[in-house]
Amino acid sequence: MSLEILPTTAGNPDYRDAGLEFPPAFVIGSATAAYQIEGAVAEGGRGPSIWDTFSHTPGRVVAGDTGDVADDHYHRLESDLDLMASLGLEAYRFSIAWPRIQPLGSGEPNRAGLDFYSRLVDGLLARGIRPIATLYHWDLPQALEDEGGWSNRQTAYRFAEYAAIVGVELGDRVAVWTTLNEPWCSAYLGYGSGAHAPGRTEPLAALRAVHHLNLAHGLGILALRETVTNDAEYSATLNFHVVRGDHASSPEAIRRIDALANRGFTGPMLTGAYPADLLADTAAITDWSFVLPGDLGLIHQPIDFLGVNYYSTATVRMWDGTSVRQNADGHKDVGGSPWPGSEHVEFLVQDGPYTSMGWNIAPDGLEELLVSLHEAHPGLPLVITENGAAFDDTVEDGRVDDPERVDYLRRHFTAAHRAIQCGVDLRGYLVWSLLDNFEWGYGYSKRFGIVHVDYETQQRTVKRSGAWLADLIAGHRIPE
Ligand code: NOJ
Repeated sequence: MSLEILPTTAGNPDYRDAGLEFPPAFVIGSATAAYQIEGAVAEGGRGPSIWDTFSHTPGRVVAGDTGDVADDHYHRLESDLDLMASLGLEAYRFSIAWPRIQPLGSGEPNRAGLDFYSRLVDGLLARGIRPIATLYHWDLPQALEDEGGWSNRQTAYRFAEYAAIVGVELGDRVAVWTTLNEPWCSAYLGYGSGAHAPGRTEPLAALRAVHHLNLAHGLGILALRETVTNDAEYSATLNFHVVRGDHASSPEAIRRIDALANRGFTGPMLTGAYPADLLADTAAITDWSFVLPGDLGLIHQPIDFLGVNYYSTATVRMWDGTSVRQNADGHKDVGGSPWPGSEHVEFLVQDGPYTSMGWNIAPDGLEELLVSLHEAHPGLPLVITENGAAFDDTVEDGRVDDPERVDYLRRHFTAAHRAIQCGVDLRGYLVWSLLDNFEWGYGYSKRFGIVHVDYETQQRTVKRSGAWLADLIAGHRIPE
């Protein structure tokens, strides 16, 4: 079948459309992650994770914030479930905290941890909300980091054991599974730049982590397939870098970032090979001999859809080493490089408007990404597993009016709709995030929620964007 690919600027170039309809089977919901919302870090037998250690280390997180209490979701499960139901969510993407299931990262499961997620899943199903479970959203048990973390191959095998435990417990009820969330961040921010836990700045460790995360994905899928008893769908979620640039050296910079950030994961997961240019770009750091015979076959497991997280674009060129360097790569700059072997790529300041993260708002980037993934991997369904924006919201007279977030969502839903019209097999859209929460290195200073959280009182207030999304879901069309 040949597809008619529409130009990506089709229709309103501002992407501010209303009235566009999504097919009934298109799943619309919201997403969170365990460490960002749960709190209760020392309850229910939970062990410490690398984010507990990192956030308690002075200077790592803005204002010294930690996930100790976060949104106190662990204690507010029932009322948060009611909140999701009140918005009409069709699906809820959450992550399971590995240190709740195996406090030391290996061995016997912790019953209280399993019970918590079992209650969550039952509560979702009782409300007609589809559970989408992510096994790893960055909270590695600290005990495993003490053995080298993701730079140690053994962590991939521990992950498979953990996946099997969760598969046995929830595999009769959870029908959509994601192995890893954004392994680029785990590897390159965790072990390269040090902006994320465990805060290491070791280029070789970052590249080893890439491979061991990829291996964990493959072994995790195999473990789930052996233990899950319902007819489930399997996936991984990647944060794609949409890279642009019109300088003479931009094509080279674009190729390098695409290799490190995108194809370094899609290559092994979807085609069973690391890109040759990635191996060449990183040759001064490693010969990749940590990739053992048979690994690529293990990583290259069939998946049912690819999870796509998208927030903004990047504009790049090669830095000549003499000019004043711009460094606008959208991630906290803390010293090490998140780009091993390609440190000379320069990230240029982009045109606004921006969110409060300083990220440029570019819905055309989402459309371009979805279309290009579809063209590169025909037949592979896609789901937007995260998209959303941080703005500085305030409560006034008991209400939170966030027109910028409504506008952001409208424009990105429009982009998603256009991608579907271009022939992309896009199955769903999960807005990040249900609740304001712990935004990693930025702590509580950035609010991504469609529901406001008052961290003093834990009061939840549905923002105007939350009501807008509820409207969209109810009508399966972009509201006026
Ligand atoms: C991606 C991550 O998966 C999520 O945890 C984070 O809060 C959002 N991006 C926003 O930065």
